[in-house]
Order: sequence, then C-alpha cells, then structure tokens
Amino acid sequence: MNSIVNEKLQEYLRDLSKSNDESIIKMEEYASENHVPIVESEVRQLLKMIVLLKKPKKILEIGTAIGYSSIVMKKTFPEAKITTVELNEKSAKIARENFDKLGYNDIDLIVGDAYEVMQNLDDKYDMIFIDAAKGQYLKYFEEAQRLIYKDSIIVCDNVLFRGMVCEEKFYAHRHRKITIVKRLREFLKVISDTTKYDTTIIPIDDGMSITKLK
Ligand SMILES: C[S@@+](CC[C@H](N)C(=O)[O-])C[C@H]1O[C@@H](n2cnc3c(N)ncnc32)[C@H](O)[C@@H]1O
Repeated sequence: MNSIVNEKLQEYLRDLSKSNDESIIKMEEYASENHVPIVESEVRQLLKMIVLLKKPKKILEIGTAIGYSSIVMKKTFPEAKITTVELNEKSAKIARENFDKLGYNDIDLIVGDAYEVMQNLDDKYDMIFIDAAKGQYLKYFEEAQRLIYKDSIIVCDNVLFRGMVCEEKFYAHRHRKITIVKRLREFLKVISDTTKYDTTIIPIDDGMSITKLK
C-alpha cells in the first residue's frame, strides 16, 4: 500500500513508538497475524497524547475492531467512560474478551451499524474517535454534532486514504475507491470550514484529523 510519509522515516517513527506493554504487544501480534486493521504505533502515541491532554470523561469510539484503541485510551486515562461501536460480531466478541481479560468491563461495547447506533444515542461525549467505514465519515461527523459539547473534540483516522484524496489519476477505474475518495474530500472540506470549526489534519500514517467547534 502507498505510504503518504517517507517510508524510511515512517519505519523509524514506528520503531521509536514500539510499546513495552505486554497486553498491547499481544493485541498487536494478534492483529498482525489475523489481518485486523488497528491504529499503527505512531498513531497510538498521538491518540494517547490527545487523551492525556484532553482528559475526556466520556469517549465515543466508532470502529472497535478487537478493542485495541479502546484499551489504549482506557489505559491512558482510566477515569474515561468509553462507549465503542463495532459492526462485526466476531471482532466485537474478541474485543469483549480483551476488555474482560484486562478488567475493563465498564467499556460499553455496542454491536451494530455505527450510523444507526449514533442516531439512537442521546448522551454527550468529550471526545469522539471515528475509525470505521471511510465512506461514511461525513455522516458520522454530522451525527456527532448532536453528541458533543462546545469543547469536545472529534478525532478521525485514515482521512487521507493513502494520499488518494489529492491524486487525480490514481483512482480512475476503481468504483469503490472513487466513491470513498469523493466522500472523503467532501468530508475534509466540511471539517476545514473555518467559520464553524478549528481543524488540524495531520499527515501521519494514513492521515488523522482533530476538529473542535468554534
Ligand atoms: C480500522 S478498524 C478499527 C480499529 C480500532 N479503532 C483500533 O485501532 O483498534 C475499523 C472497524 O470498523 C468496523 N466497521 C466498518 N463499518 C462499520 C459500521 N458501519 N459500523 C460499525 N463498525 C464498522 C470494522 O468492522 C472494523 O472493525
């Protein structure tokens, strides 16, 4: 897969960001062996830093997979009450096992389609971390507006889609990718509207954005 960051530099950063936490290492090994997409090490470190600085009492995560990023956030700020949403039942089962193993039974895991689940939530969150279907980011982001306070932040992973968002030629013949690229561009335009939001888009791994209401 194309990297948006100089590959040598990326490898170097990943090496520097290696975890020495046994449970984190085990989940990384499981994900690698079973081809489960989880945040990369340097993104994990950024996520941790965001949580350390923001200290969010309530976090909503969209896209649990095996619970890796939920556990990273919980370990970083144990006071956080985390609600996480996953569509895939098999992944959700493994996530639940991982939460139980570490004693994080208070992480609320909801199995279902994220957009539908979000529409039925009526709580408010200090931080929303979006890491699920890339083509749905704008829908998630719009629904998230109802679920945040003025000071909340919305963090999204994979927003640059291997750099395809700025390529004209690359996606000429792949319908699914064309749709995702078009939708991500639309999403990036919306979050970059300076009349409504403060946003930073960070070209780390596959691109991460952090947005706050003005
Ligand atoms: C990149 S993975 C999440 C990784 C996780 N945040 C981590 O770093 O540990 C994306 C997850 O979103 C889930 N997903 C995809 N479409 C979804 C949807 N419509 N609703 C809820 N989850 C969805 C996938 O099954 C997958 O497990």
